Amino acid sequence: MVRIIMHGCNGKMGQVITGLADRDGDVEIVAGVDPMDSGMNTYPVFPSIDLCDVDADVIIDFASAKAVDALLDYSVRRQIPVVLCTTGLSEEQLAHVKRASASVAVLKSANMSLGINVISKLLKEAARTLADAGFDIEIVEKHHNQKVDAPSGTALALADAINEEMGGRYEYVYDRSGVREKRSSGQIGIQAVRGGSIVGEHEVIFAGTDEVIEIKHTAYSKAIFAKGALQAAKYLAGKPAGWYEMKDVIG
Ligand SMILES: NC(=O)c1ccc[n+]([C@@H]2O[C@H](COP(=O)([O-])OP(=O)(O)OC[C@H]3O[C@@H](n4cnc5c(N)ncnc54)[C@H](O)[C@@H]3O)[C@@H](O)[C@H]2O)c1
Repeated sequence: MVRIIMHGCNGKMGQVITGLADRDGDVEIVAGVDPMDSGMNTYPVFPSIDLCDVDADVIIDFASAKAVDALLDYSVRRQIPVVLCTTGLSEEQLAHVKRASASVAVLKSANMSLGINVISKLLKEAARTLADAGFDIEIVEKHHNQKVDAPSGTALALADAINEEMGGRYEYVYDRSGVREKRSSGQIGIQAVRGGSIVGEHEVIFAGTDEVIEIKHTAYSKAIFAKGALQAAKYLAGKPAGWYEMKDVIG
């Protein structure tokens, strides 16, 4: 049985995971952490991570970027691996994640779904052929009107997957409104649409002369992220210190 601390347990993702974990005989949420609590969970809930003294095998985090530094310090101090799913981390926080992963197992993914992680592989393959054939690459992502970060962590991760594959040749462009010049081939344009209750759409467009290829993923429910997070938690429990990604879980 994998014992989990659910960081951000009363948020939308925390509650989807709580529901799935209830029906999963291989995991148990032994504690939650959330400053907002109305006592609806069957496990104890602490208002901050530093107050949580429950023994656990792994932490799942879907909370707030503001809470990530304290979480990483806790995870290192108590030697509990962490599945880090919160998005919108700063450069300094990403460096903190890297440092923490030298002392404890950290799995970080901007998107825990199987589909996005498969798409990421497909994009690398597509870019290898299409980029040098003169195709321009653009990403359009759509999310609900409650999302605070833009563009999404997933859109950036997809752009990074392409860019790393192509030797870091691209700059990312988020806004062309003030620029009166043609697009250069060294750009990946990333556009964010926000509205209603859209769970998450990511479309990567390879636009060539007379042909366009679009690779698109649509999330219809948050359950896809929750399933991936639980799968990652089972994988990470007991793992040695290091930086892990969803591709390690999926194989
Ligand atoms: N990686 C992925 O696949 C993936 C998927 C969905 C959402 N996310 C990200 O996960 C995060 C949470 O998403 P959500 O939709 O559940 O948001 P949400 O706002 O519904 O929930 C966040 C919860 O975290 C709690 N919280 C705030 N500060 C905290 C702290 N210091 N310690 C512990 N808990 C704290 C809030 O009270 C809230 O209950 C966001 O950054 C979102 O972008 C990632």
